[in-house]
Amino acid sequence: MSLLDLKGITKSFGAIHALNGVDLSIAPGEAVGLMGDNGAGKSTLMKIIAGNFPPTRGQILIEGEAVLFHKPIDARNSGIEIVYQDLALCDNLTAAANVFLGREERTGIWPFRKLDHAAMTKRAGELFAELKSETRPRDLVRQMSGGQRQAVAIARTRLSDPKLVLMDEPTAAISVRQVAEVLNLIKRLKDTGHAVILVSHRMPDVFDVCDRVAVLRRGTKVADKPITQTTPEEVTGLIIGAIEAA
Ligand SMILES: Nc1ncnc2c1ncn2[C@@H]1O[C@H](COP(=O)(O)OP(=O)(O)OP(=O)(O)O)[C@@H](O)[C@H]1O
Ligand SMILES: [Mg+2]
Repeated sequence: MSLLDLKGITKSFGAIHALNGVDLSIAPGEAVGLMGDNGAGKSTLMKIIAGNFPPTRGQILIEGEAVLFHKPIDARNSGIEIVYQDLALCDNLTAAANVFLGREERTGIWPFRKLDHAAMTKRAGELFAELKSETRPRDLVRQMSGGQRQAVAIARTRLSDPKLVLMDEPTAAISVRQVAEVLNLIKRLKDTGHAVILVSHRMPDVFDVCDRVAVLRRGTKVADKPITQTTPEEVTGLIIGAIEAA
């Protein structure tokens, strides 16, 4: 059975038609690459799946059941985690605090419960080590490099055991070594039955880790194919419109 089915997702922002009737399905353990030019609607689609705003029209089904997400916590409760393109971190907090934002660990017995900083620092450190990141749990996000911020945003998705992880350009601003780690992480997620949607402009990343590639052009899905049945050249043609649809 599908984990996620999008049916006829349409989104308008006033006069801007960001998405037109997009259908997309993803099975457990599957990785789908979502590609398209700037402004094609990729982030808008990710934000709809993650519960940031509702579609203007269309339906989201999780394991065959129609869901209505009013806010991001609704999507998270349905097993969906997201790394936003802009990362959406709190600059004035530490790396560990950002990883646990909204789901802080507590210790002690009510009414004397307090934040368990030691536990959160330890767990965040483990997650950064797993990502082969130099990020230290106690460092302020404000002082971090792009790659370190990326690691914080990805570590957040590893706290729960999500069914679906959405990654919006996770390798756009990071070092070669970290790109390899993020791609390894996607492979590990797949191997453990998690589904991933990877938004990327990087053809090698998509062809390395994805089972399927879907292409959006000006809000319309123009292709959705197994990776083994297409080529980077065809996908490029679809993205820029040299190839109408495939
Ligand atoms: N909150 C918003 N309000 C108004 N227009 C928006 C909003 N978010 C996105 N848009 C518009 O919707 C269209 C799709 O934007 P979106 O961010 O989804 O593109 P994208 O495919 O992610 O592009 P990129 O590759 O540059 O990240 C664009 O025309 C954009 O200007
Ligand atoms: Mg985007």
